[in-house]
Amino acid sequence: MKKTIVFSLFGSVLFLLSFIEGEEIFDIAKLRRLYSSGDTSRWPEPHLDDAVKSGFQDIGVLPKVAYPDYNPYSKEKEILGKLLFFDPRMSVSKQISCSNCHDAQLGFGDGKSLAHGHGRRVGKRNAMTLYNVGHYTSFMWDGRASTLEDQMLLPVQDSVEMHTDLLTMLKHITDIEGYKQHFKAAFGTEEITIERIQYAIATFERSINSYPSRFDKFISGNDKLLSDAEVLGLHLFRTKARCINCHNTPLFSDNKFHNDGQTLYGTSQEDFGHYHISRRQEDIGAFRTPSLRDIALSGPWMHHGNFPTLRDVVELYNLGNPAPIQRRVKVDESKRPIHSPLLKKLNLTTEEVDAVLAFLQALSSSTQRRIAQPVLPL
Ligand code: HEC
Ligand code: HEC
Repeated sequence: MKKTIVFSLFGSVLFLLSFIEGEEIFDIAKLRRLYSSGDTSRWPEPHLDDAVKSGFQDIGVLPKVAYPDYNPYSKEKEILGKLLFFDPRMSVSKQISCSNCHDAQLGFGDGKSLAHGHGRRVGKRNAMTLYNVGHYTSFMWDGRASTLEDQMLLPVQDSVEMHTDLLTMLKHITDIEGYKQHFKAAFGTEEITIERIQYAIATFERSINSYPSRFDKFISGNDKLLSDAEVLGLHLFRTKARCINCHNTPLFSDNKFHNDGQTLYGTSQEDFGHYHISRRQEDIGAFRTPSLRDIALSGPWMHHGNFPTLRDVVELYNLGNPAPIQRRVKVDESKRPIHSPLLKKLNLTTEEVDAVLAFLQALSSSTQRRIAQPVLPL
């Protein structure tokens, strides 16, 4: 009996030693208890910079999506929106649907660094995942659309996406007899308008939500669902790794814009992001913080899709997000991007990087979602 106790004590000491960080020893059993207690007031304090403290909301279980008053939920609208989302006749060529680039089996993105659209032309940015999209307060990497209803008009008209003018889109859909009954069911009359198309698609998009992750179930009280490495990763995410400063709220996004060192200043891929909308110096190269729910499903990562693995992303943060070495080109010094002051060198050990990565996996489903392609009206 004594021997067993000695051995198991020895075992746990060894185990704790393996998670030593500088002077700090992480007591995983205690962290597990606190984080899975179901009581967030018992969680350890997050490491927040002063700039983030006001209005801060911690990570947690994602509530149900809110539908706006002007476009409330109905099953019929969702069904119609799904048909339109999958319908290539929304584009000028009648070949490209929203689902071309937002494919459920590819994490609601397209699996490519940069999206391909009309005539296989390559766009400037990575196709965003649509998981939990109804929880954002602005849309696109740079935030240039303020509602999902308005967002929908951009890809339809974009010359490297669906490349159609709105009246042609409307005509394509109006010409399809079989849509009339769906518009009637969703809106009360058979009339097909651009606005109704916007409202239906947005309603469908608000239904694209992640399933509860192992993280959600763990913090709700199921204390077995995360491994020790994942518990450590969760704790580091909120403390030493500083992710919580931007990837906060139950969405894992503060819905704000930050320069993450990805402007690619002075290169052919230079992208000023949110600056194009706000025209404020500090927004040069700032992008909206993406959610990290189901993040493992939607690579490659970042607005340019240049990161083929999540490890690359976490290693970048660990180094304090240095800008890539600049090519010798003439740049406008007055527009040199300034990195977010929230980014700092993290000094994570290899084991800690692994733990953060393990946590990102615990936020993601283990398999890609499949959505049956609906039978389109004729
Ligand atoms: C050719 C590929 C392509 C097609 C087709 C396409 N998208 Fe996208 N989608 C993208 C890209 C790329 C982005 C990011 C664009 C940016 O930030 O400039 C994006 C972003 C979005 C976003 C913003 C998500 C967020 O988190 O802010 C939504 C919503 C969206 N698309 C919906 C749609 C809908 C609805 C359609 C069909 C009407 C559609 N897309 C068609 C490539 C595409
Ligand atoms: C200063 C705010 C900030 C901090 C701190 C931060 N992020 Fe981010 N994160 C962002 C922004 C903004 C982007 C999008 C940048 C882009 O695409 O250019 C992003 C992108 C990402 C992506 C890619 C998402 C995608 O859809 O392609 C991952 C993964 C990620 N962050 C994980 C982390 C982790 C893990 C940490 C902590 C080690 C962290 N972030 C810390 C703001 C931040």
